[in-house]
Amino acid sequence: MAEVVLTDVEKVYPDGTRAVTDLNLRIDDGHLLVVVGPSGCGKTTALRMVAGLEEITSGTVHIGDRVVNKLEPGERDVAMVFQNYALYPHMTVYGNINFPLRLARVPKEARDRKVREAARVLGLENHLKRKPPQLSGGQRQRVAMGRAIVREPAVFLMDEPLSNLDAKLRVQMRAEISAIQRRFGVTTLYVTHDQVEAMTIGDRVAVMRNSRLQQVDDPQTIYDRPANLFVASFVGSPPMNLFRAAVERTGDGIGLVVGEQRLDVDEQELAAHPPLGSRAGAMVVVGVRPERLGTSDAPPQRRLRGGVVLCEALGSDSLAYVMVKGSLALDDAQSSLANDVEDAAEVEELSRETQATVIARLDPRIPMSAGESIEIGVGAGSLYFFDPDTGLALTGE
Ligand SMILES: Nc1ncnc2c1ncn2[C@@H]1O[C@H](COP(=O)(O)OP(=O)(O)OP(=O)(O)O)[C@@H](O)[C@H]1O
Ligand SMILES: [Mg+2]
Repeated sequence: MAEVVLTDVEKVYPDGTRAVTDLNLRIDDGHLLVVVGPSGCGKTTALRMVAGLEEITSGTVHIGDRVVNKLEPGERDVAMVFQNYALYPHMTVYGNINFPLRLARVPKEARDRKVREAARVLGLENHLKRKPPQLSGGQRQRVAMGRAIVREPAVFLMDEPLSNLDAKLRVQMRAEISAIQRRFGVTTLYVTHDQVEAMTIGDRVAVMRNSRLQQVDDPQTIYDRPANLFVASFVGSPPMNLFRAAVERTGDGIGLVVGEQRLDVDEQELAAHPPLGSRAGAMVVVGVRPERLGTSDAPPQRRLRGGVVLCEALGSDSLAYVMVKGSLALDDAQSSLANDVEDAAEVEELSRETQATVIARLDPRIPMSAGESIEIGVGAGSLYFFDPDTGLALTGE
């Protein structure tokens, strides 16, 4: 087993496409790191450079204490599971899992033991004699994992291994993959564009956007303390609400001017965002997660008035879309920082509204309908603040 370290890794394809820029990542021995980000941000390229399937333009990749930049894939001691895992259709499950061991000329008895052990862990014991066409999608996926596991590689590399599965199976396999990974303790790099998958599988999550790493942290920290507007809106569903507000000094504290309304910043929020105190008179981008908005329990200076535009009942809770009176939505440049687009021109559609619509996740028993005007309470300590020009969180770090 081994740790994997990427240092200043870059990839520029021959046609000039810059797929990975200045990537620094470390996966500790036995840990699982998920790289997540929108389509085209460079995830697969990064993984393929670790695998040895793609040349590294600059920087170094270490596996254990070896620099592997110039090593062939077969010399790197890695095993891969891809989205389009190809099993041999004419071989049984046993034969498929056994195949890499035969290639490696492992003695027959040792092979048999390893195949059966992997099959047991993967719940495939009763299917060893079947052939892939006789298996469900999830079972096939587990055979592909079995084939990777028996090689006992130093590192697993997985590129969207669940994306061919239906929603229910994905959820089940998500749990199984993290259990299997923990059981075998193999250092794993796992790539997905699905933020829920990333949050549930990863010990640590690396968020990428547009070839660059945005933040690496444990999942809860990514959610609770996003480093910038992009991470804030990429992780979480529905995404964090974002709008513009002016900072003002109030008696002994700090407040926000949200259009015609005023909102106090509480002590917890001030402590978490120290630069806010010096921004009186300036605009900031304010964020609040849908589940931290409610209809009760908040003092008057922690409420926003608005009109319900739409109400979606989801059963467990309902989502109220509320146009906050007089508020300011993000401008085009800020929207491009927050959203999955690189160019401010692309976001016109998103931000044509000048008033901000916030989504509140509410108790479904609260009766509510479109057209109604309501007051939504802002949960204690729930506000986030970002620099309107750079999109960086105002954490003072
Ligand atoms: N062989 C190639 N030649 C030129 N450009 C490439 C090549 N392969 C990928 N790219 C480009 O590099 C960028 C990163 O691609 P990559 O496949 O790493 O993205 P990804 O994050 O895995 O996306 P997805 O979620 O869609 O799989 C994209 O802009 C892509 O078009
Ligand atoms: Mg990819």
